[in-house]
Amino acid sequence: MAADDETTGRASVRVRVPAKINLALCVGPLGSDGYHPLGTAFQAVSLYDEVTATDAGPGHFSVTVTGEGAADVPGDDANLALRAARLLAGHNPRLGAHLGIRKAIPVAGGMAGGSADGAAALLACSVLWDLDQSLDDLQLLGSELGSDVPFPLHGGTAIGTRRGDRLLALLTRGTYHWVLAFAHGGLSTPAVFRRFDELGRITGTEIPPPLLNALAGGDAAALGRTLRNDLQPAALDLRPELAGTLERGLAAGALGGVISGSGPTCAFLASTESRALTLAADLSQLPQVRATRVAVGPVPGAKLLT
Ligand code: C5P
Repeated sequence: MAADDETTGRASVRVRVPAKINLALCVGPLGSDGYHPLGTAFQAVSLYDEVTATDAGPGHFSVTVTGEGAADVPGDDANLALRAARLLAGHNPRLGAHLGIRKAIPVAGGMAGGSADGAAALLACSVLWDLDQSLDDLQLLGSELGSDVPFPLHGGTAIGTRRGDRLLALLTRGTYHWVLAFAHGGLSTPAVFRRFDELGRITGTEIPPPLLNALAGGDAAALGRTLRNDLQPAALDLRPELAGTLERGLAAGALGGVISGSGPTCAFLASTESRALTLAADLSQLPQVRATRVAVGPVPGAKLLT
């Protein structure tokens, strides 16, 4: 149900959407479609963007962005949330929406921030416009926008295959305590994949069974040891200072550390919440670390707020 926006009196819907970490990102060779086949294990973590869709009258689409890195988010048709709203509206000329995005997920940080906003816009607009779309329908539509768009709708922990967009829920035990170290600036996903191709180190798309066992057993120490990202050498090649961030986190007692997705955010696993807080304080001393956050996972996917 859409509520009325307090200031405009127009119908509006607010959605909260989580960031993701890739616990494993196993990458195959570049295909003829320009994409790499993936085997990935996503986990949704408690770092959220919020997207509010407000009725804007027939054919009117606009977006405003506030919060973390807002200046780096396109305000035009390149904005993934705006593209999502237009895609969902299809050829129906009666639909329109203004999207207000409040960001906490770093922009171009390897945590699917833009994809999360696209996913949230799909959910918010489908409710605003009273469309009869299931979560599966929205995920399918989301995969047209980008490989990482379906997962923020799904949430929890999931295996992603094909381009990372075909999802299979993974039952896991326990709550994992994460420390996220944001870098200055972002990394371009296509640029990281290109460097991956140039480096030519391909090991395949099978997610290591010990990592899946660790998740099934709720064994954080084992998960920390088995985190894997095949894009990491490429991201480190483009941003060598990230190696120092990973080293410092491990030296300071993290159970494991990995670059998330195409980077440059580094994700560290801690054994407890208090260790995560100590680790975050330690990492924030590094000049190459712009900010740190603690988060837990898994958390549910995009959710309507009342
Ligand atoms: O799907 P999405 O538009 O988010 O992907 C951005 C870019 O990342 C693609 O154009 C491609 O260069 C690269 N990519 C890839 N293989 C994947 C996913 C993304 O090469 N499985």
